[in-house]
Parts: sequence; structure tokens; C-alpha cells
Amino acid sequence: MELERLLRAQGFGSRPECRALVRSGRVAIDGATCDDPYREFALEGLRFSVDGVVWPWRKFVYLAFNKPPSYECSHKPKHHPSIYSLLPRHFVTRGVQAVGRLDEDTTGLLLLTDDGQFIHQTTSPKKNVPKVYEVTAKHPVSGAQIAVLLAGVQLNDEPAPVAAVGCERVSERLIRLTVTEGKYHLVKRMVAAAGNRVEALHRVSVGGFILPADLPQAGWDWLEGM
Ligand code: URA
Repeated sequence: MELERLLRAQGFGSRPECRALVRSGRVAIDGATCDDPYREFALEGLRFSVDGVVWPWRKFVYLAFNKPPSYECSHKPKHHPSIYSLLPRHFVTRGVQAVGRLDEDTTGLLLLTDDGQFIHQTTSPKKNVPKVYEVTAKHPVSGAQIAVLLAGVQLNDEPAPVAAVGCERVSERLIRLTVTEGKYHLVKRMVAAAGNRVEALHRVSVGGFILPADLPQAGWDWLEGM
């Protein structure tokens, strides 16, 4: 693929912008500067750099992001900055989106991608993808509350009770809750319906993807195995 088109597809701007980027000598392929925007490169295994920062060529981008509190998962946030302001700009330009959303005060694993099929498969209610949350409750979590969460709670505006597929007590006020649905404020509403209250919510996994232990808040990493 021509270098100019390749950079465009990776999110580095419009074709004229990418052409100018190349002509100004800011782009290198495998360590060697290339100022010819029309030079052809094989994409498989390609590594290019822009202003000295090396990027692998990717057909699709799949990221694990450690969402910090006080950020909104929206391109048009209302009360807090957007998580997209924390990502390299070219990821956003190429259309990387959150796979489902977390509340502004929720922390932890957020998957991000520009692969629409992956978003659909991971968020579709029919796929039953498990999401694991560490829930810090306001009050000690009783055995009865855990039993209620596992049996199912009736939420306003939901036709049928919603049950957790897993719920273990980690400490007096901390539980590990697994749900397969992705409804608005789901965990907070479930815990409230069980007679407690969420004080802090942290997501540790989505499907088979686990938040990397060494990923700092606001940090991202390529998703393993994609
Ligand atoms: N459930 C909630 O209540 N909030 C989240 O951010 C995610 C799940």
C-alpha cells in the first residue's frame, strides 16, 4: 500500500495531511526515513514511526484501557472529560470506540476497538459475555444479599428479574460480581435492589480479557491474543 494511504488508514489524518507528514521527513519505515508518500509497502509485519514513535501496522486496533474515575465514555461528555482525550489521537481518528460504556465513576477494564463486528459480538445480549466487577458496598454484604443477587432482582423498567451469574464475598464490604448483561447502571441498580449500595465499582474482566495488573490508570495496551 502507498505510504500516504497507509498512514491515512492508521488514523494519521487526511490524505493531504499524511502526504505533508511524509514529505516533511517525519515518517520512517523500519528505522529509515521515507519522504516519498507514494512508495509502496507490504502491510504484514510493518512497523512505521511518526516523529520517532514506532507503531505496528494494524488492520484493526484492539486495546485494553484502564479507565480512571471522573472520565466519561462519550465523544461528547457533559460533566467530565472524555476517555478519548487520554488516547493517542490517531486511534480516535481511525474510529476506535469503547466496547460498551462504564459510568463516569467506574474504574477498570474498558475494551476499545475499531472492529464493529467485535463490538457487536462482545456487547450483544445474546452472546452472554461475562463481565466481572469488584463492588465495594456501603454496608457489610450479607449472605442473604448475595443469595438475592444470584437468584435475580427485579429492576424498574425491566421485564424479568436480572441475576448475577457469580457473586463471591472478598471481604466484609467487597464482592466480586459477574453479570452477562450490559444495561445502564446495571450493577448499581442490582446492588440497590438487593438492599445495599455501591460505593465503588471496578471492572476486572470482560469475556476472557483481564485487566493487566501492571496497567496504570488511564493507561492502554494492545489486547493480548487479537
Ligand atoms: N454497572 C454499573 O452500574 N455501572 C457501570 O459502570 C458498569 C456496570
